[in-house]
Amino acid sequence: MSDSLRPVRGMKDLMPEEFLVHDHIIRTSKEIGECYGFKSFSSPIVEYTGVFARTLGDESDVVSKEMYSFPDKGGDSLTLRPEFTAGVMRSVISNKLQSQLPLKLFSYGPVFRYDRPQKGRYRQFNQINFEALGVGTPESDAEIIALAQQILTELEIDKQVTLELNSLGCLHTKQAYQKALFEYFTQYEAELSEDSKRRLHKNPMRILDSKDKQDQKIGQDAPLMSAFYSKEAEEYFNKVRSSLELLDINYSINPKLVRGLDYYSHTAFEFTTNSIDAERAITILAGGRYDGLAEIMGSKPFPAIGFAAGIERLALMREFTLNTSREVAIIPIGDENFEVAFKLANTLRQNKIAASIYSQGKVGKRMQAAVKANSKYAIIMGSDEIAQGVVKFKKLDAEEEVTLAFDDLVNECRK
Ligand code: HAM
Repeated sequence: MSDSLRPVRGMKDLMPEEFLVHDHIIRTSKEIGECYGFKSFSSPIVEYTGVFARTLGDESDVVSKEMYSFPDKGGDSLTLRPEFTAGVMRSVISNKLQSQLPLKLFSYGPVFRYDRPQKGRYRQFNQINFEALGVGTPESDAEIIALAQQILTELEIDKQVTLELNSLGCLHTKQAYQKALFEYFTQYEAELSEDSKRRLHKNPMRILDSKDKQDQKIGQDAPLMSAFYSKEAEEYFNKVRSSLELLDINYSINPKLVRGLDYYSHTAFEFTTNSIDAERAITILAGGRYDGLAEIMGSKPFPAIGFAAGIERLALMREFTLNTSREVAIIPIGDENFEVAFKLANTLRQNKIAASIYSQGKVGKRMQAAVKANSKYAIIMGSDEIAQGVVKFKKLDAEEEVTLAFDDLVNECRK
């Protein structure tokens, strides 16, 4: 097959059955989000590269290796969004929405990362994304985690996940921690991967997020963030924890959870699962607080927290079954009755009833095709019936057949 007939590596077509599942995940997330005050929102898939480069962290894998960036015809560097958060923040700032805070924004759609594809990891994937901007209390962190938990419960995958929680502290905590990590990793500089040698001087915390096995081994004994919490950071985290307990949300503290993007401070969380790949825990939903991002992007500072989940990963964990909508099959007997069938299909569709005409092959074949398509009802119409203004109406589940007047069909099909 010629290359141009293949989808791009790590990108895939979404077949109708998969689309149904995606649709269900998006609808469920949106509905539950509305109970927490979220409104739907959308920003462009493409942004100027600077929106992501500075904000996610130059040393993060996403910025240093994974962005799809390209010059446009005018010479500007653009990037296909590798995540939503920075684009949402850009939109709030460029639309001068700071005066309207708090804002709770729900988005979904494709995201692009040039990573090595494997099960549950794609180069184009979809996220559901929630951002609560101008919201800065520990209770609101618990509320956002409760929203995430409720979505997973509603999707019936909550039993397969663990909630891991950490605090990345405030700015002072982060600075002190970076210094301690620099001192720790400097002892092992020669053994670190080339990437981490660079990270050591620019942002040693990123070494903790390295995918290199030797880096991970060295990182095992690295100092923990919690030893550097300021009083304020510690109090904040304790309040988040007691609020989660108040809401009966189970979590485990993972003191090594640092998240892959730079903008986080205070609360960070990830829902992980072993049910996608038995060999390793995979994160399906993740987020945290990013109080410093607005200021980094040139706005007056305001607090914010959010999370995103990979729709493909949620779909892979699915145990729920979806009731697909079932059609009415219209089966004309004899080609001369096709036009009546054609008109009836139009009448049903005008009444928002899904209908298909089966007119290929003998009557038995038509009937088989209607059953195979999981139709709910079959309307069988021969010349004699049509002459009398009636049809044969078959309930395919019950194998029950009655004669119905044309005029009663819309009402009967609605049942
Ligand atoms: P993230 O952890 O980079 O966070 O991604 C969130 C979720 O996207 C992951 O937990 C995973 O389910 C999914 N995901 C990430 N990479 C891939 C991939 N290559 N293939 C399939 N699924 C993937 C963020 O994106 C932050 N913007 C989340 C956030 C929102 N923080 C605050 N607000």
